[in-house]
Amino acid sequence: MLRLEGKVAVVTGGANGIGVAYSEGLAKEGAKVVVADLDKKGGEPVVQKINSSGGKAMFVRTDVSIQKDAEKMVADTVRSYGSIDALVNNAGILFTAPVEETTEEMWDKLLAVNVKGLFFCAQAAAKEMKKQKSGKIINISSIAAIGGQAGLCAYSSTKGAVLTMTKVFALELVDYNIQVNAVLPGTTDTGMAEQAMKDPEWTRQVTQSIPMKRLGRTTDLLGAVLYFASSDSDYCTGQTLIVDGGYSMI
Ligand code: NAI
Repeated sequence: MLRLEGKVAVVTGGANGIGVAYSEGLAKEGAKVVVADLDKKGGEPVVQKINSSGGKAMFVRTDVSIQKDAEKMVADTVRSYGSIDALVNNAGILFTAPVEETTEEMWDKLLAVNVKGLFFCAQAAAKEMKKQKSGKIINISSIAAIGGQAGLCAYSSTKGAVLTMTKVFALELVDYNIQVNAVLPGTTDTGMAEQAMKDPEWTRQVTQSIPMKRLGRTTDLLGAVLYFASSDSDYCTGQTLIVDGGYSMI
């Protein structure tokens, strides 16, 4: 039996990178999938691929950093598919800079998308999930939230905020049968890591520091999200799952 048969899942940032693996993987498990992203050009082929292989998906253009967009995205989801059972809060941006070169503009953009955007989507989804008396919210943080990394002061701070928010949402929603958990990916081979990966020395060093001796693939993250999106995790809330090839254990 498929794990998400008849369920409706939203993936923010589902048009590129790891979000594509989440969207396709949730659809394969029977969920109707909403790809909510700024990037229509990237999102449409994801939706088409799911629909042409027997699944069901639609694209909703969403800027998660705009509260009204997040609310409209949830309303469109419920109007089209009848419910919102899982929200994968995955949309995120990255700027790297040493502390002294980190600008206020970088802070504002990172906070707008990675913190406020994630909050707006969870807030809008929670309103519907409360009416349903069920739901799953999966917040995508990062290993950057739990260890210091040079050049990532502002980004890491936003991902740390995601962990705190996960616990607060989990507590506030615990009586409504809504579970809220976080996934922490390690360095994964996507557009986000592309810039750094152009430096072979960086890639060699990072790869060497990972016990499994390779970067993450987008599909490596899927199992964690499927666990938190399905009834397998019904007794688990406010928790974090690190998927990083063992990087953070040493
Ligand atoms: P990516 O850059 O490949 O894809 C991010 C997606 O988010 C894009 O489709 C983009 O259009 C969308 N997006 C950006 N701003 C948006 C906004 N305001 N509204 C709606 N959509 C927006 O990134 P990747 O690598 O797939 O990362 C996905 C998540 O995983 C992010 O939250 C990232 O911080 C996190 N992560 C990634 C790691 C990596 O090494 N790639 C490591 C740890 C965490």
